[in-house]
Amino acid sequence: MITIKTKKELEKMNKCGKIVALILKELEQKVKPGVTTAELDQWAEKLIEKFHVRPAFKGYKGYRHCLCTSINEEVVHGIPSPKRKLQEGDIIGLDFGVIYEGYYGDSAITVPVGEVSVNKQRLIDVTRNSLLKGIGKIKKNGSLSDVSSCIQAYVEKMGYSVVREFVGHGIGQSLHEDPPVPNYGEPGMGPTLEIGMVLAIEPMVNEGSPEVKILKDGWTAVTVDGSTSAHFEHTVAITEEGPKVFTSL
Ligand code: MF3
Ligand code: CO
Repeated sequence: MITIKTKKELEKMNKCGKIVALILKELEQKVKPGVTTAELDQWAEKLIEKFHVRPAFKGYKGYRHCLCTSINEEVVHGIPSPKRKLQEGDIIGLDFGVIYEGYYGDSAITVPVGEVSVNKQRLIDVTRNSLLKGIGKIKKNGSLSDVSSCIQAYVEKMGYSVVREFVGHGIGQSLHEDPPVPNYGEPGMGPTLEIGMVLAIEPMVNEGSPEVKILKDGWTAVTVDGSTSAHFEHTVAITEEGPKVFTSL
């Protein structure tokens, strides 16, 4: 069942999204060679306390951290570790969410560590653009699958592939609500977008083949071919005026 949020609920979710965006911005500025992914997670936890919100991921299906940190060929759900130091030339996905007054916000960015190759920077740029282009397809009474197919078409035109095993999701009083939001598919297939729906749209884009596998830690998804992957996510509402991105400043 796809929940429709009231104006009041949308206001809370917007506030929630703004807090997510502020914290992600601060975390982005901490990304430097030599920093460990555990240190980034600790920063996330400090900022959660500062803003008087709760972590969306900690405790979710036994996940023990506030942040997911996915480096290079890691697609999503990388686990912060004191042993994992960022290196110049890496790219890192930071996936983060909070709960504010009972409502969830969820967002992800991929950022370069120091100077990165032209190829890695292009992968980041294409993935970010695919999300923005997808969001641009949102309109009331439009079809969600138009968003999905737009993302896939753009990514593939740019020579990359979209991950199928993980998809975006509705979001509200739960982190994951209906509907699933795939980053692939045919246009015009629905479900119909209605005012008051809120979606977490999150393309995961691989430089090589779309296949992913889960490491023995039970969480970290990596590309099967070892190619680099990038991920961006926004929490977006469907409003009378069109899409409203909650997780941007
Ligand atoms: N942003 C991700 C999602 O939408 C991360 C959740 S996985 C978690 O599914 F376990 F870390 F919470
Ligand atoms: Co999500």
